[in-house]
Amino acid sequence: MTVHFIGAGPGAADLITLRGRDLIAACPVCLYAGSLVPEALLSHCPSGARIVNTAPLSLDEIMAEIQSAHAAGHDVARLHSGDLSVWSAMGEQLRRLRDLGIPYDVTPGVPSFAAAAAALGAELTLPGVAQSVILTRTSGRASAMPDGETLENFAKTGATLAIHLSVHVLADVQERLTPHYGPDCPVAVVFRASWPDQRIHRATLSTIDPRIGDGERTALILVGHALGAEDFDESRLYAGDYDRRYRPVGTSPRFPESA
Ligand SMILES: C[S@@+](CC[C@H](N)C(=O)[O-])C[C@H]1O[C@@H](n2cnc3c(N)ncnc32)[C@H](O)[C@@H]1O
Repeated sequence: MTVHFIGAGPGAADLITLRGRDLIAACPVCLYAGSLVPEALLSHCPSGARIVNTAPLSLDEIMAEIQSAHAAGHDVARLHSGDLSVWSAMGEQLRRLRDLGIPYDVTPGVPSFAAAAAALGAELTLPGVAQSVILTRTSGRASAMPDGETLENFAKTGATLAIHLSVHVLADVQERLTPHYGPDCPVAVVFRASWPDQRIHRATLSTIDPRIGDGERTALILVGHALGAEDFDESRLYAGDYDRRYRPVGTSPRFPESA
């Protein structure tokens, strides 16, 4: 018996890996984090599967579900939105499973920042503009930010910021970032990326309306000069004169084809 943690993707039911889909189809028990996991994914469950929305459950109750599946020898598909490596509450479940000696594995999913970038048609790392993406959030009721992980500190790097769980404090984000990125820095807020009701707001730090987040919290705030930039260098990797292993150039290439 194994608990399969599966990244369910950002919302569109076809943005799940084939491995994730096949695991759902093979498991007689499916536990899904109902608030953000699309119900359409549950159609992959085998008929007669026990399907439980864990949104209203405590960690103890979730573990009780897993232990009862374990006692029956039933594999479990455990679905969380996006990818499991960020803000999935997987870490605490894995720690309990290790204590209980229950086997598990992890199948990655499409994270919401990637779905938001796709919706914008944007590369977040443009040569000469930004070469890093910082996935972060602001303090919430359930989770304080560790010292040092402040928007101001991240902003000092000039990297593209993908700010999660924060659209309800957009005015604060705007105020804290403007001194670092400047009022003209592009901002994009993508609501429910890849869902049928996806919405996109593009503006700058000075023009973004902080009230757009009223009422809908499933949104990513992307900030950085890479958004919408046209004045950036082309990647050297594909330059005609760039000598590389897969495309040796010149009379004495650095990586001769025979090497
Ligand atoms: C609990 S976190 C889950 C993050 C998820 N594990 C991931 O890989 O993106 C929930 C936050 O992720 C962001 N989010 C998740 N799905 C989203 C989507 N489809 N569109 C925009 N933002 C999304 C929002 O900021 C939301 O408040």
